[in-house]
Amino acid sequence: MTDRSSRKPWGGRFAEATDTSVEAYTASIGHDARLYRQDIAGSIAHARMLQRAGVLTEAECRAIVEGLEAIRAEIEAGAFPWSEALEDVHMNIEARLTERIGEAGKKLHTGRSRNDQVATDLRLYLREAIDRLRAELRRLQEGLLELAEREAETIMPGYTHLQVAQPVTFGHHLMAWFEMFQRDRERLADCRRRTNRLPLGAAALAGTTFPIDRRYVAEQLGFEGLCANSLDAVSDRDFAIEFAAAASLVMMHLSRCCEELILWTSPAFGFVELPDRYCTGSSIMPQKKNPDVAELTRGKSAAVFGDLMALLTLMKAQPLAYNRDNQEDKPALFHAVDTTQAAVALFADLVPHLQVRRGRMREAAREGFATATDLADYLVRKGVPFRDAHEAVGRAVRRALELGRDLAELPLEELRAFSPAIGEDVYEVLTLEGSVAARDHEGGTAPRRVREAVARAREHLAAEP
Ligand code: ARG
Repeated sequence: MTDRSSRKPWGGRFAEATDTSVEAYTASIGHDARLYRQDIAGSIAHARMLQRAGVLTEAECRAIVEGLEAIRAEIEAGAFPWSEALEDVHMNIEARLTERIGEAGKKLHTGRSRNDQVATDLRLYLREAIDRLRAELRRLQEGLLELAEREAETIMPGYTHLQVAQPVTFGHHLMAWFEMFQRDRERLADCRRRTNRLPLGAAALAGTTFPIDRRYVAEQLGFEGLCANSLDAVSDRDFAIEFAAAASLVMMHLSRCCEELILWTSPAFGFVELPDRYCTGSSIMPQKKNPDVAELTRGKSAAVFGDLMALLTLMKAQPLAYNRDNQEDKPALFHAVDTTQAAVALFADLVPHLQVRRGRMREAAREGFATATDLADYLVRKGVPFRDAHEAVGRAVRRALELGRDLAELPLEELRAFSPAIGEDVYEVLTLEGSVAARDHEGGTAPRRVREAVARAREHLAAEP
């Protein structure tokens, strides 16, 4: 291997070998080897374009394409001799190509630089990663729709300040989660459009003197367009930052859902139960069943936010065009990709298996005076100004607390003491079912509106490619 590595592709200008500590410090092969498929695809497209432009002969192009395909197989078989001295995935593959096919291999890099090469690889990689993540988010959303439909009538307490506020349906709550992930998927689709542009042709920074055809390369690689400016093409990492921002929002949303699962699975709530296979135990307390997957997802969001900060800080104040700083984009980007993908996948697996404790949810809504606003609204309908109604109901709640009862359990005479406008019909509005059914408008919690929202969401998903 010393033999291969002493032949650095850029070695001509140097009078002595690179210090081994510098080799170790500057190498990126430890993390960028995962770009091999994209690197090879980009090289094949580039070689075909060079042949069309008359820079490579047909035989040279064929040797290069076959050589690169053999290298891909070699990598996938785990037989590729990766070398740190050859710095990165690009030089490792190029050096290997020349080892395998000889002279023609040395012509591949014509009209190209690692600067536009790495930007191309990264965009191809991220495009796939976005597609994978969007597919997983969609699977999660489909699970949420199933569950929301099933739980469209299930009453639970809705909270503000984590205090019981008004009754909602569990289906409605799940559809709130659905909306978060819908926005995430939209954001990722938007990020994909800007990611999907071709940098190749920018070469090191200024373009190339060869008669290249960038549109032909873009077409082969499925890019929607070209990076318009060569300096920007090699230095732009906005797409990575945008992805990290979108991934951070996904993780933030997951952390909120997970926080709710953690609360709901605690015996104090007891709203849902997770299957044993998604939980872990305690080494000391035999009774424990801990929601570790949810906790870890909440915890892992931290490092993805860190990836966003790392990428922003990496790019801040960089002069045009390419700087070696950019090599540090990969650990952050790959970490954000891997963590978010794994978190969404696990959550998508988990959601269909949530065991819902409808009785506990209902009980919690009943205990918390969740229909107090309904009583105030009732008084308003009887002609009482809202502020006076609010005051009267507040006093009624205080009385009910003293008696240790729910509002619906107070006798009519007791209730009428707070407002003479209260009549026999008051008990209809004090029921939990009446309360949710009355919130019957688009975006409301009424069971029929939840079913409508599920149906609309299904149509929307079906209409997407
Ligand atoms: N490994 C480098 C990176 O990840 C590739 C580009 C290096 N270009 C250079 N001129 N040293 O950014």
